[in-house]
Amino acid sequence: MTKHQAERQLYVGAITGTSVDGLDIALVDVSDTIAIIAGETLAFPANLRHELLALGQPGSDDLDQLGEVDRALGHFIGQGILSFLKSHKFAPTDITAIGSHGQTVRHRPDATQPFTWQIGDPNMIAEVTRVTTVADFRRRDMSAGGQGAPLVPKFHEALFRLADEDRAILNIGGISNLTMLTADPAIDITGFDTGPGNALMDVWCEAHTGNPYDVDGAMAAKGSVDDALLQQLLNDPYLSRKPPKSTGREYYNLDWLKSQLSRTAKAHDVQRTLLEFTAASIEGALATWAASAQRLIVCGGGRANPLLLNRLRTLLTIPVDTAEDHDYDGDMIEAAAFGWLAHLRLAGLPGSAGSVTGAGGNRILGAIYSA
Ligand SMILES: Nc1ncnc2c1ncn2[C@@H]1O[C@H](COP(=O)(O)OP(=O)(O)OP(=O)(O)O)[C@@H](O)[C@H]1O
Ligand SMILES: [Mg+2]
Repeated sequence: MTKHQAERQLYVGAITGTSVDGLDIALVDVSDTIAIIAGETLAFPANLRHELLALGQPGSDDLDQLGEVDRALGHFIGQGILSFLKSHKFAPTDITAIGSHGQTVRHRPDATQPFTWQIGDPNMIAEVTRVTTVADFRRRDMSAGGQGAPLVPKFHEALFRLADEDRAILNIGGISNLTMLTADPAIDITGFDTGPGNALMDVWCEAHTGNPYDVDGAMAAKGSVDDALLQQLLNDPYLSRKPPKSTGREYYNLDWLKSQLSRTAKAHDVQRTLLEFTAASIEGALATWAASAQRLIVCGGGRANPLLLNRLRTLLTIPVDTAEDHDYDGDMIEAAAFGWLAHLRLAGLPGSAGSVTGAGGNRILGAIYSA
């Protein structure tokens, strides 16, 4: 049943993920159970994408460029939200607030002074849209001793937790993150980044074909797993580290991959091995830290790679569903989460789960930029 406009409490969530593949925008109604009403991914102008990719790599530390791209991305997000609302026949005045994650340009939870940095100036988003904007979601959790990531597990809980089944939710973005939801409500949710999702497959594919990702795993399908390389990749110390833990493209990038490739290998075989590495590292994370899971629900762009999903289904003994099997658009869950987190911020409710991030407690997340 369609709700009358006045009964709705609408929020927009927006995120540009670690893959830098586009801006995801979702419209969320939080008035009753959470409903994701609409969602869209907007492509970046090519120059903005390249600048974001460059800023995400250690080494390019030009503060002038950072300042300009911060502003340009804020403008792009604001304009993107306006056109998204228009095409779905909503007015900015229908929206209570925007939750904008922005683009992570650096995530350093293990630095002497741990920090995480998202850009996409929220002042500009509020100015362009004239909608109250909440942003800077991660840093309060880090100030409280947490990883600042992942932040979606509480949203996964709100969407997927059941009283009669232990469930794990997997988001395969650039990095892959897992949420564990036990049937027993007395057990706190847990979650962490398992390691690479699409990030390594994407950079390898782009370097060898010019395409930003391996559509449907076609390149990987032409190769075979290099067992020695796979074993070496699986020895990566991040994988065996105990949660809480989080990682990013400043670690899993082309330089990291090149440092692992000591001998010449066929490009297709490397692509296939990277896919297997993603699947096997996820399997290992589940076996070690989410062993009671009776079902896995997969969201994020990696679920659209049939070869990757097949490998997960083969490696795991539990049913592997997609978000669509549970009537959610698996491309919009992260964006929707930030709309919901904006709602929690305005309600003065904590958005983080210290049981996930390792922070000293749950914290109210985000700063408010008035309409
Ligand atoms: N048809 C497909 N075949 C193979 N891979 C795909 C396909 N569709 C999407 N992908 C992969 O999904 C990625 C985008 O996924 P997603 O948007 O969830 O990641 P993200 O932006 O990094 O998100 P996150 O916020 O979780 O970091 C692409 O870069 C690509 O690797
Ligand atoms: Mg994305």
